[in-house]
Amino acid sequence: MSKMHIKLKLNGREVETLAEPRVLLIHLLREQLSLTGPHVGCDTSHCGACTVDLNGRSVKSCTVFAAQANGGTVVTIEGMAAADGKLHALQEAFREHHGLQCGFCTPGMITRAYRLLQENPNPSESEIRFGIAGNLCRCTGYQNIVKAIRAAAERLNGAKEAAA
Ligand code: FES
Ligand code: FES
Repeated sequence: MSKMHIKLKLNGREVETLAEPRVLLIHLLREQLSLTGPHVGCDTSHCGACTVDLNGRSVKSCTVFAAQANGGTVVTIEGMAAADGKLHALQEAFREHHGLQCGFCTPGMITRAYRLLQENPNPSESEIRFGIAGNLCRCTGYQNIVKAIRAAAERLNGAKEAAA
């Protein structure tokens, strides 16, 4: 099958590659571009472990063809930390509040939470629970994930106020 030319802004870098039209975004990221943060947990669009940010929206990258992302902007968990390695507030908060156990869901969960906090910078507990409803965690019972997202929101809002 002939390959398509795919160009992305991926975690702030311009990336160009070739992929067959049938290739899913998750496979392009993991197998061709070596970004193994987004995970495959189900392949049926249920678990959210494959969540990435595409053009300012959370998507389950197992349900998107790589070709659909052509020309777009993609952020994965690998793009969350700053260039100097400083963790994103969400990553810090997940660590501090024990928002993970096995960690399998964590890249998708944090990437989803990243977009949730852009959509709603000050979410209530129920808004957080609704906002991450597409991301399943088999370990934590969600309590500490919700706490971590709430704590990250407070930290990010505090930093904004301090800068104003
Ligand atoms: S692997 Fe994509 S939703 Fe589960
Ligand atoms: S920490 Fe194990 S699936 Fe969420």
